[in-house]
Amino acid sequence: MSNRKNKMKGIILAGGTATRLFPMTATTSKQLLPVYDKQMIFYPLNTLIKAGIKDILIIVAPDHSGQFLNLLGSLFKPYDIHISFEVQSVPRGLAEALILGENHIGDGNVALILGDNIFENDFSSQIKSFKSGGHVFAKKVTDPERFGVVKFNKNNRAVEIVEKPKEWISDYAVTGLYLYDNRCIEIAKKMKPSERGEIEITDVNRAYLKKKELEVTLFEGEWLDAGTPESLLEAGMIVREKGISKNFHPVLAKAIEEFNEELKIRSKKRLQ
Ligand code: G1P
Repeated sequence: MSNRKNKMKGIILAGGTATRLFPMTATTSKQLLPVYDKQMIFYPLNTLIKAGIKDILIIVAPDHSGQFLNLLGSLFKPYDIHISFEVQSVPRGLAEALILGENHIGDGNVALILGDNIFENDFSSQIKSFKSGGHVFAKKVTDPERFGVVKFNKNNRAVEIVEKPKEWISDYAVTGLYLYDNRCIEIAKKMKPSERGEIEITDVNRAYLKKKELEVTLFEGEWLDAGTPESLLEAGMIVREKGISKNFHPVLAKAIEEFNEELKIRSKKRLQ
């Protein structure tokens, strides 16, 4: 592990209760629901694994920890990828992931990804070359009031970020992949809850923006969040159309294939 000490760590936030997906999420986690032919969690995992991240913390809700363990507990055993879990007892906001992940992050940098965000793009080069400050990825949307939104000046520099703006400021949503240096932990710890009672990832971004250390990259490819029955269905159709799940990183694809084989053996044994 020692040679990994300063390597970037990954965190996938897969807690929360996903009330908008009731009753499906009464029995399982949103991030374990299928998006076309794979569980949702595999998509953010793919984003991190493609970028060479080998230590990934998955933050889960207490009721679902066993299910995540069944799926991912030994999936990467033969490979050099280490998955760990942390239970988020009460969801207090996305920025809490940075506090819960403090030990995992250690003294290095972190790539945080929301467990329900599916990207068509490959952000490996940005993740691999990240050095310091913060780096977020923004996309033009038709419903910016649903997101953290970033406004640019004439020179295309980010000048303002607002969480779910009531009044229009821009059409660019900040998506759920965040690269931060180690200072993000202290920034998150000092934050006060917002009106909705959460410590907001937008406030972490604003802190870096204020220091003039936030890079914002615009992108064009598909970005799907699967938080409602409609968007979950749509995400599945786009994933199928674009072949996103057929294009997983070879290590992930192989690990899933081997797990499938193991499941087949187990089910045969049960029938004997
Ligand atoms: C969260 C963030 C928001 C971001 C969005 C991306 O929103 O607060 O800034 O744009 O994820 O999916 P939430 O899912 O909490 O509504």
